[in-house]
Amino acid sequence: MGMDSPYIIMISSQKGGVGKTTVAVNLAVALRLDKYKVLLVDADYLNPSVGFILGLENINTGIRSVLNGKSSLENAISVHAPTGLHVLGGELSYDSDTLKPDELANLMVQLKASKYDFIVIDTPPGFYPKEVVDNISEALIVSTPEMASVVSAVRLAHKYEKKSLRHTLLLNMVKGKRYELSIEEIEDTYGTRVGAIIPLDEIVPISSSERIPAFIYGKRSEFVGGISKLAGLYSGQPLAMPKSRHGIFVRLFSLFKRKRGIPSFEVK
Ligand SMILES: Nc1ncnc2c1ncn2[C@@H]1O[C@H](COP(=O)(O)OP(=O)(O)OP(=O)(O)O)[C@@H](O)[C@H]1O
Ligand SMILES: [Mg+2]
Repeated sequence: MGMDSPYIIMISSQKGGVGKTTVAVNLAVALRLDKYKVLLVDADYLNPSVGFILGLENINTGIRSVLNGKSSLENAISVHAPTGLHVLGGELSYDSDTLKPDELANLMVQLKASKYDFIVIDTPPGFYPKEVVDNISEALIVSTPEMASVVSAVRLAHKYEKKSLRHTLLLNMVKGKRYELSIEEIEDTYGTRVGAIIPLDEIVPISSSERIPAFIYGKRSEFVGGISKLAGLYSGQPLAMPKSRHGIFVRLFSLFKRKRGIPSFEVK
């Protein structure tokens, strides 16, 4: 793909708890292990949680300090030692002021001028500030294969569509059960192919309790297979898939197609 440099991917959803932070951290780690220079930004300024997953929870200088001018971008970046991933973390302060548009715009200028190949931005649910959205390369919309989540994701996709902004739909926590919406039903509703499918995998909460990203902890897991494919969309060089663990994907695509569908709706 003709790529911006840095290529800025904003992880996005309107619903909470769909796996944005999990995807942001593990995509960033996967790209980093593929030798790219990667910055992971925790823009969930009220509930920063990237640090917990990476074992970087004592961040005193992070995104807030850059926004309010107390620190330079460079000095607010932490390095995840095991991978060399750079992290602009969130501070766990009680300070709950809102984000100021001019400060956000200024941060985006700095990010765009930085030396990274990829910048992955984790966001809180419903995060849609113009100053950020107008300056990203792509929105990666995360949804679970549930009706409410998919409908919400498609509404969000319409907003990006109106801005002619590239967006990709990622389905997370896929169980491959009959009662879930099928990939075909979701693609019909979204209007284009689903970009990536990440299974529900126990390795995620287990690795999280160990403060090690699942992508590193769960080497041969189905979760890692899904994240590798996702990273391959961006690196253009699909990473090696773990061997003979395609079970869930095969099941997913062979799901009995039900005559049910998702209600259509108009977005104003
Ligand atoms: N593929 C997965 N398999 C198993 N558990 C998962 C998976 N993805 C996410 N989870 C779990 O689901 C929960 C929510 O994930 P996460 O915090 O990444 O969501 P989020 O969208 O960032 O939430 P919020 O909107 O609050 O920021 C976490 O406990 C996480 O460990
Ligand atoms: Mg989150």
